[in-house]
Amino acid sequence: MNLTEILNWRYSTKEFNPTKKISNEDFEQVKTLLQMSPSSTNIQPWHFVIADSKEGKERITKGTQGFFQFNEQKIKDASHVIIFCARTDADDKYMQHLLDQEEKDGRYPNKEVKQMVFGARNLFTNIHRYDLKDLQHWMEKQVYMNMGSLLIGVATMGIDALPMEGFDLKLIDEEFGLRKKGFTAVGVVSLGYRTESDFNDPTKTPKSRLPEEEIFTIL
Ligand SMILES: Cc1cc2nc3c(=O)[nH]c(=O)nc-3n(C[C@H](O)[C@H](O)[C@H](O)COP(=O)(O)O)c2cc1C
Repeated sequence: MNLTEILNWRYSTKEFNPTKKISNEDFEQVKTLLQMSPSSTNIQPWHFVIADSKEGKERITKGTQGFFQFNEQKIKDASHVIIFCARTDADDKYMQHLLDQEEKDGRYPNKEVKQMVFGARNLFTNIHRYDLKDLQHWMEKQVYMNMGSLLIGVATMGIDALPMEGFDLKLIDEEFGLRKKGFTAVGVVSLGYRTESDFNDPTKTPKSRLPEEEIFTIL
């Protein structure tokens, strides 16, 4: 499939085949997608809680009670479920931790370059912390970019996905003790394989998008 075909093949899967699991080998690549996503200043303000067992998925369904019931089965039947968590702060300790990792990965030919990157990342972070006062929101945006790249990336592997915001994220934070660890849940993605009966499959219910002439300005 070329990219256009892949983009039309993928859709928000509403019914997962509960008997079909993503192989360990494929899931290793999915983890690479999550790890390798780009982020502004390489801030990587994320953590992922991943469930592939019945028990793990049951715990995640604590966030689909009441109003969010409509998403419950999509968790239970999925092969793997990923909770996307964003940092609630980027303190000095974390900034130093990022710098140390980059040094370990061989990004700094000398102390000057290292210091320059450290300064630039702190500058950007402080613009968001103090001037724009949207540090947490900015970090969440980076997490959403990661979610977007996951959705397209898994489609290239023939894996179906459903992103979900229809979740009681406060309950998810509590269930996994996320806030104490400096994180908060921003969304959940189910992964697996579509059933033949899924009404939302584009061969049954066509996808809908605004037309090109409306969304593009070509200069
Ligand atoms: C951030 C985000 C949150 C979403 N939340 C839900 C959800 O809670 N439940 C659901 O069934 N679909 C959810 N969707 C699916 C969207 O409705 C779907 O992506 C959109 O209609 C476009 O269709 P497509 O993904 O099939 O191309 C969500 C999508 C995104 C990107």
